[in-house]
Amino acid sequence: MKNKSLVSINDFSPEEHIRILELAGIFENRPKQRILEDYVIATLFFEPSTRTRLSFESAATRLGAQVIGFSDATSSSVRKGESLRDTILTVSNYCDLIVMRHPREGSARFASEVARVPIINAGDGANQHPTQTLLDMYSIRKTQGSLDNLNIAFVGDLKYGRTVHSLVMALCHYNTTFHLVSPLELKLPSAVKLHIKERNLTYHQYTDLQEVIPTVDILYMTRIQKERFSDPLDYEKVKMAYVLQNSMLINAKPNLRILHPLPRVNEITTDVDDNPKAYYFTQALNGVFIRQALLAAILGVVD
Ligand code: CP
Repeated sequence: MKNKSLVSINDFSPEEHIRILELAGIFENRPKQRILEDYVIATLFFEPSTRTRLSFESAATRLGAQVIGFSDATSSSVRKGESLRDTILTVSNYCDLIVMRHPREGSARFASEVARVPIINAGDGANQHPTQTLLDMYSIRKTQGSLDNLNIAFVGDLKYGRTVHSLVMALCHYNTTFHLVSPLELKLPSAVKLHIKERNLTYHQYTDLQEVIPTVDILYMTRIQKERFSDPLDYEKVKMAYVLQNSMLINAKPNLRILHPLPRVNEITTDVDDNPKAYYFTQALNGVFIRQALLAAILGVVD
């Protein structure tokens, strides 16, 4: 993985995904190791973030690296009209690796083609969020004991949900049965469903959330993303489509765990937070260990 960019989850092989999960386990047991003291990491966030940016910065800092960057592109020369190409070429001079989030699909691939250092995609529009996928896989494996033969429900905005797109692709290697719960307007894109079919796996589509709860091992809730709608009225129609409440979990399997990439708005009520099946805040913590593993592997400090 040394010097490789991670733009799509498929840029790394299934064996490399597992290696990152194993490394993350090592960092979970010993998070403070100053193995990146000679490195500078740039975090360029052209779109808002709490978890991804801060967990990358926490991961880098705990490993002894220096962090530079911006969390708001309006404080950079982008505001003066600088192109993405020029920004990336310039920042490549100042660091050993760039973590970038951008609202435009394909921007991370473009950045990886012009950068002189590896690029990690921290989310490009509605396309992919591969580091979230790795922490989701880590969370699933940790709570279920395996990634194989699971029933996994994805709920909410499956059309624009980049975390959903990259996680579905990664789980196609593990004989997953997919349960896709969304409003008709927000179904999983055909290209991602084709990926499932090509692996000879099964998916079922639903509009009713309650129907899937007794069947599944993982309930992966997502936010309906207001910022992806061009017409605010379309968002108003679906914004309350799914609201998971504690009372809805009575018939759930004992091993069910609820994941959510966060932030949440209204799709999980706070009475679920105390249910032992709620795993989303621990899932966010796992992001630190996964990002430590990615930084160390891509910088070639571990094999
Ligand atoms: N899960 C995730 O990408 O969260 P942030 O938008 O807060 O980074």
